[in-house]
Amino acid sequence: MLAQLFDTACLVSPTLRRFLMRKWFHYLSHSDKEVMMPFMNLGYASLDPKEEPLALLDHDAAHRYCIALYHHVAGAIDLQGREVLEVGSGRGGGASYVMRYLHPKSVTGVDIVQKAVHFCNTFYQIDGLRFLLGDAEALPFDDQSFDVVINIESSYGYGHIERFLSEVLRVLRPGGSFLYADYRRNEQLAALRQHLLDAGFTMLVDERISDQVVKALDLDQERKSSLIEQKVPRWLRPSFHYFAANPGSEMYQALRCGAIDYRRFVLYRG
Ligand SMILES: C[S@@+](CC[C@H](N)C(=O)[O-])C[C@H]1O[C@@H](n2cnc3c(N)ncnc32)[C@H](O)[C@@H]1O
Repeated sequence: MLAQLFDTACLVSPTLRRFLMRKWFHYLSHSDKEVMMPFMNLGYASLDPKEEPLALLDHDAAHRYCIALYHHVAGAIDLQGREVLEVGSGRGGGASYVMRYLHPKSVTGVDIVQKAVHFCNTFYQIDGLRFLLGDAEALPFDDQSFDVVINIESSYGYGHIERFLSEVLRVLRPGGSFLYADYRRNEQLAALRQHLLDAGFTMLVDERISDQVVKALDLDQERKSSLIEQKVPRWLRPSFHYFAANPGSEMYQALRCGAIDYRRFVLYRG
């Protein structure tokens, strides 16, 4: 009920959506004292039974599906030696994975929630990785500062997607890549594609990954549910199950039946 109210309120106005998203992610960051939630995405699991699972260090393996989403999106191009920006870096697990496994020159994570940025700068001590406070719609960087921008499951909460896309284009160097994944209601997809083209990107990949996301939700259900049961007050649990898209939730059903589409894009800045 609370989750549906939240969703409806988000549709009312861009300002309200931004405000509510910020509060929600502040609350999540504040609650995760034991760092059980370095990722906040729905995850990804390959549908190909022959595909080898990612070789991960023990402490990363618990977050296999969330990491697999990063691997699928950020691994679309060779990042070695590149300067990478992640917008909406959350609790930093993804930026840390990209830095440690995909070997770019640097990764800068930006998030609008101060608590998350403070946590990341304290928790991750990795050469070349840093986190800054910033708004996706007004990025705190000079023009042409990065080779690659990554954005995973963050943009649905932005007030004005056009402002975000023009900021991505501005901070990317010519020849740079924008590696992007998020979900949208089916009827919003055409507008999203149009915004990407209007911003000036060339679209190299537009892939539906909803089935892989649903598979990850099935495989990761036990871990997420037990986390919710342990950590979340009883009255808030249905909202957490909804936002985690746990099987049985409305969000899970919508992804499964195609009312909500999860997409991955590879975009090129000429
Ligand atoms: C669902 S979480 C995903 C975090 C991370 N990408 C991951 O996959 O674990 C969305 C993140 O986007 C951030 N965010 C939302 N609106 C933002 C904005 N306008 N500017 C920067 N970050 C924003 C939130 O604070 C949150 O950390």
